[in-house]
Amino acid sequence: MHITVIGSGYVGTTIAACFADLGHKVTAIDIDDDIVATINEGEAPIDEPGLDDLLEAHVGDRLTATTSYDAVPDSDVTFLAIGTPSNADGSIDLTTLAAAAEATGEALADKTDRHLVVVKSTITPPSIASTIEPAIDAGADGNENVEIGMNPEFLREGSAVEDFVNPDKLVFGTNSEWASNRLHDVFEPLQDDRSVPIVDTDPATAAMIKYANNAFLASKISLVNDLGNICKEFGLDAYEVMDAVGLDDRISERFLRSGVGWGGSCFPKDVAAITAAARETGYEPAVLEAAIDVNDRQPGRLLDLLTKHVDVDGARIAVLGLAFKPQTDDIRNSRAIPIIEQLQDLGAEIVAYDPVAMDPMCNRFPDIEYAASAAEALEGTHGAVVVTDWDEFATLNDEFDEMETPVVVDGRRIVDPSTEMTYEGLTW
Ligand code: UGA
Repeated sequence: MHITVIGSGYVGTTIAACFADLGHKVTAIDIDDDIVATINEGEAPIDEPGLDDLLEAHVGDRLTATTSYDAVPDSDVTFLAIGTPSNADGSIDLTTLAAAAEATGEALADKTDRHLVVVKSTITPPSIASTIEPAIDAGADGNENVEIGMNPEFLREGSAVEDFVNPDKLVFGTNSEWASNRLHDVFEPLQDDRSVPIVDTDPATAAMIKYANNAFLASKISLVNDLGNICKEFGLDAYEVMDAVGLDDRISERFLRSGVGWGGSCFPKDVAAITAAARETGYEPAVLEAAIDVNDRQPGRLLDLLTKHVDVDGARIAVLGLAFKPQTDDIRNSRAIPIIEQLQDLGAEIVAYDPVAMDPMCNRFPDIEYAASAAEALEGTHGAVVVTDWDEFATLNDEFDEMETPVVVDGRRIVDPSTEMTYEGLTW
């Protein structure tokens, strides 16, 4: 099968490389010459484990990148993987996606065979009929051979290739049996030696499944953080409590790690977007608003624990971990951002360290100090806060002896508290 993928960002590049690895011919299309050149050199424009290897294996053979839409009509299916950034009110900005949808439509205006255009981007259910479908139609001049589908992605940053190969489920939102069959054919090679559950539904329901999935997981963490805060007030260990709760298979043991909250490019954006879309209908989604509220409050709780032991004004404070989660240099919506802002408001002198995310954070906060290692960051500080659960923080030991006053507030339950120090866990 020949697949065109419009957009070579994190999702687009990952699926293009993975489709090629499944044996399909893939044309990756992006407006950015540099991204196209990078891919054609067999390199990934983003840092994602396993992606470089796949590109190196398939570029020049089954996978080609280009800025031209010429390959679209010759392909069997087109995936739209274009970013949908947030507007100030949390709603999503569909401008770029709609423009790509229209350009895809234009490329298909004269196609005489049926063609499926599948939206991969996370978009709200009403926007399919209100914005994306009309954009494709306008470009295609109403060509009835062009159909829209929705195939949300559930890949996690840092394990996207692995998640593509081993999905929990595939969701196909289509308007016809033909379109559904086409998506079944695309993913057929994945089913070789296993049976991945496939949900066949309509496009709007498929779009809602993605939001419901992320909103559920983000709310699950916020609920665990709410319960964790209560545990802390009672002098109890939230991890011991949730380990037991997770044995109930209606709840599951995953995503029960309480701490400083959720960040990244997806949970904050998606929860805000579905909340904004709900409000537009006149509905106030109370649980989702509370989930955002609890998440917004966790950094402040972390700093309350620090100020219990340290007069932060004028103190030197180490911030360990800047990425929104380990194995990535992505700082988008990282909890480290509000923590640094609040420490600055409190008058702290900040020294930050992260194994990979210091450059992006340096652009965001050019005026704080950055250390070359956790040991260097801790030296001479009056307190430290741990924001990302990088494995290397678990092995810190003597390094805490070099602190002026060894007070450590752990937001991720990663530090070994057995060395002599004042240790506070956020929810334990
Ligand atoms: C998330 C979803 O997990 C993916 O299924 C989805 O495809 C993706 O968003 C997306 O919409 O594109 P991702 O943002 O890469 O993936 O990150 P996660 O691994 O889910 O972690 C999100 C945040 O939750 C991180 O800040 C992490 O530290 C936090 N988290 C996670 C907790 O605080 N506790 C937990 O128990 C688990």
